[in-house]
Amino acid sequence: MTKYNGFDVLHAHAQRLQGTSIPTLMATEPDRVKNLALNVGPLYVNFARQKYDRAALQSLLELAAARDVAGGFQRQFGGERINITENRAVLHSALRGDAGNTPESMAAHAEAAAVQQRMGALIQQLEASNVTDIVSVGIGGSDLGPRLVADALRPARGARFRVHFVSNVDGAAMQRTLATLDPATTAGILISKTFGTQETLLNGGILRDWLGGSERLYAVSANPERAAKAFDIAGERVLPMWDWVGGRYSLWSAVGFPIALAIGFEGFGQLLAGAAQMDAHAASAPLERNLPVLHALTDIWNRNVLGYATHAVMTYDQRLALLPAYLQQLVMESLGKRVKLDGSPVDADTVPVWWGGAGTDVQHSFFQALHQGTSIVPADFIGCVQADDPYTVNHQALLANLLAQTEALANGQDSEDPHRQYPGGRPSTLILIDALTPQALGALIAMYEHAVYVQSLIWGINAFDQFGVELGKQLANQLLPALQGEAVEIADPMTREILARLR
Ligand code: F6P
Repeated sequence: MTKYNGFDVLHAHAQRLQGTSIPTLMATEPDRVKNLALNVGPLYVNFARQKYDRAALQSLLELAAARDVAGGFQRQFGGERINITENRAVLHSALRGDAGNTPESMAAHAEAAAVQQRMGALIQQLEASNVTDIVSVGIGGSDLGPRLVADALRPARGARFRVHFVSNVDGAAMQRTLATLDPATTAGILISKTFGTQETLLNGGILRDWLGGSERLYAVSANPERAAKAFDIAGERVLPMWDWVGGRYSLWSAVGFPIALAIGFEGFGQLLAGAAQMDAHAASAPLERNLPVLHALTDIWNRNVLGYATHAVMTYDQRLALLPAYLQQLVMESLGKRVKLDGSPVDADTVPVWWGGAGTDVQHSFFQALHQGTSIVPADFIGCVQADDPYTVNHQALLANLLAQTEALANGQDSEDPHRQYPGGRPSTLILIDALTPQALGALIAMYEHAVYVQSLIWGINAFDQFGVELGKQLANQLLPALQGEAVEIADPMTREILARLR
């Protein structure tokens, strides 16, 4: 990696801008609102309420150039094994197009297209059957993406299938879902890249028993033999995925089977097309007009230069209410790292805590802290220009609130009474979607995926492994027999004591 001391330059910019408010930035750069806006397909994104100016942004772009972000995209899209700790390519872009145009990416794209055809045929069979409800069992990347997209895009009425998601190992989740369903008209999909995940194996077993066998059970896995064997599922009902697709990047693969059932196979194709459009943009746009790059650099500025410890996502659209949960995995599992690719400690703080919720609800819960608390929380505010419901005034009110909050957070308001003062200076990025179509949602999610990758290039870390989640899984597997009454040697005194109480 090129040695670059750009962080010193960035800190100097922050020092220079310390006393400059967001309204002053707006006033001193008359075209700022236009200059810091970008239109990519159905997305309009505006960074004008961030606390940087042209010179600071220029230094951020130099940092991106020094880290060879453009080359990084090429390596990823082309199928190089950039996930070096697992010696894997990272080709989720090949699931939705071929931004790489290399033999590796073309081969991956062809495999993905063939599986999509198989998935389409299975959907047709299900459509011709008496099945009305689908229970999708999976967790993490095998759940959050499909759950988000199915919830965001499902028609308000008249869907062919009702799709339900069960992820938590807590039996209450499965119990509550099954309580509303009839096994005679329900089918199940078990989704697990590894097919070794405790939650999915246990919940899959419950579902199979409740269905009375595996006849209406489907599976998606990178280990299809294991899936077929463990649940006795016929091979034609097991769809493959590959080690070159990370779990949290997998909704575009057959992991999206529940999405295609919830919104239709055609809608699933449009979702992929929207993401492919963002891939093409990421691969070809110059850094200064590259949306994922600008989004990532803004996050770097807020995290590493201004030192903000968290980042929020406010969806001013109820249909996107699950987006913060989805992004928590995408961003924090990818960027929650403390060593660089060569194993040495990182030079700067990595991922902040991502969180958020749906407006306007959150205005009445945690927004007080955002306006007047001591911690500044940079945020993405996401809204849709067109609604899909008939309640026009509600939609106008929703957008009025979105605009009001971003303005109040940035500009603040003075008062002689300190209790009534709004300090302002709270930065946000505005993301407007024309209408929440499958294509637009595909583009939005792909934008975040690429922004994650750009940040990993800047920090020099691997965004595609997740060893941090393994230790807890191993311990839980060791402790389960102890809870079942087996004599297990427990070294930790606290765990030993609590186990005794639980028994
Ligand atoms: O939470 C850790 C994790 O490994 C995620 O990365 C993954 O998406 C999830 O578990 C589920 O894994 P699988 O698809 O193999 O069941």
